[in-house]
Amino acid sequence: MDLSQSNLAIRKLLAEYSHTDHDDWFLTFKARFGMAVAMQCIYDIYGHGEVITQPYTCITAINPILASNLKPVYTDVDPNTLSLTNPEKLYSSKTVAVVMQHTMGIIGDDSADIAAFAKKHRLILFEDSAHCLTRMATDKSGKVLADISVHSFGVEKILQSTKFGGAIYINPALKHKNAQLYEKITSSLLNLPQPPLGLKLRSRTYRFQNGILQRMPNSIYHDLRNLAYKAHIFELAVAPYEQSGEQSRPYATTKYVNKIILQHLPALPANYKRRLKNTRTYNKELANNGNFTILAPIEQPLLAYPILFPTTAAATEVYDVLTSSKFHIRRWYSPLLYPGPTSNRRYSYNPKMAPTAEDIHSRVLCLPTDLSPERMKTILSIIKPVKNPVEKIIKSQK
Ligand SMILES: Cc1ncc(COP(=O)(O)O)c(C=O)c1O
Repeated sequence: MDLSQSNLAIRKLLAEYSHTDHDDWFLTFKARFGMAVAMQCIYDIYGHGEVITQPYTCITAINPILASNLKPVYTDVDPNTLSLTNPEKLYSSKTVAVVMQHTMGIIGDDSADIAAFAKKHRLILFEDSAHCLTRMATDKSGKVLADISVHSFGVEKILQSTKFGGAIYINPALKHKNAQLYEKITSSLLNLPQPPLGLKLRSRTYRFQNGILQRMPNSIYHDLRNLAYKAHIFELAVAPYEQSGEQSRPYATTKYVNKIILQHLPALPANYKRRLKNTRTYNKELANNGNFTILAPIEQPLLAYPILFPTTAAATEVYDVLTSSKFHIRRWYSPLLYPGPTSNRRYSYNPKMAPTAEDIHSRVLCLPTDLSPERMKTILSIIKPVKNPVEKIIKSQK
């Protein structure tokens, strides 16, 4: 299959799963590149302006704003969804866009309100669906609410094995809202260059290198990874330069990246089925316990299942127990603007802007949702507290 044939095959699957048209999907080498293209087009048309977003996110979701000379302004998060809340508070005549992120794949009930806010002020509505490939917020008739929806095949996303690739859905309704912007974004996405040879090679060797690194003792894992990065032979999920607001120029997807995506994308419905089942199990088994709280029980196929501990120390202890039992637990997003900016100032971020996010980020653990029934039993046997306090969970594992 050549590049355009594999592009079409992927776009057809994305369209099938999301009940959309394959002509409205565009593929990039990483999701952040698609976001950057769209932000740059917004800047080219609107000039300097502000984008409402949240600090409870990966820094790669903010860099496209900075790299396009736009300014991120931050709302706090709703603790029930870990996503943007009260965007109205930040609205000013400088606002040009708002980013509605579905953290861990939680599509909140307030999506329609955020869309109404964007519509009222004629803002461009971005949707960050990096954690919920092909799932988008819709209105009651099933129409996609966002103007631009960003999806990822990257590291630690819904499809575990793809590692590279981004997909951007451009709502055809944007044509009527702002034809110039629609044309500019779609033609820019279609004309992205291929990545340079080095990056192409790193995407081919990533799985193998990562497999070796994962087997290394913790004590040398980070040093080795950084060495390989410095030698330009390993692609980090977030590179050090990306923690200072820098962003690579955007690239298109490649024949190889598409080949890998096509090997795994057909399994998406089964993947979501398992995640939904496990999310429901967590909802049922972990409700009303004395050690941690769960978010409002959400019946969605989450990328990971967030639980909130009363203290950072308790979260860390349970994290250590679970990781030593070989569970891959994420501490998203701690630090905020994960994995943390070199300077808050560069990101125009001040902790006072998001007291809830600041308060909870280090107390959240994200449980895996892609576990087999046996592994679900094991993880529940460790964390299902019945009436045990956290100390008992820890002791029982020692
Ligand atoms: C919320 C969020 N948005 C966007 C991205 C960017 O995705 P990608 O790694 O495909 O560039 C990520 C992951 O890094 C993310 O977690």
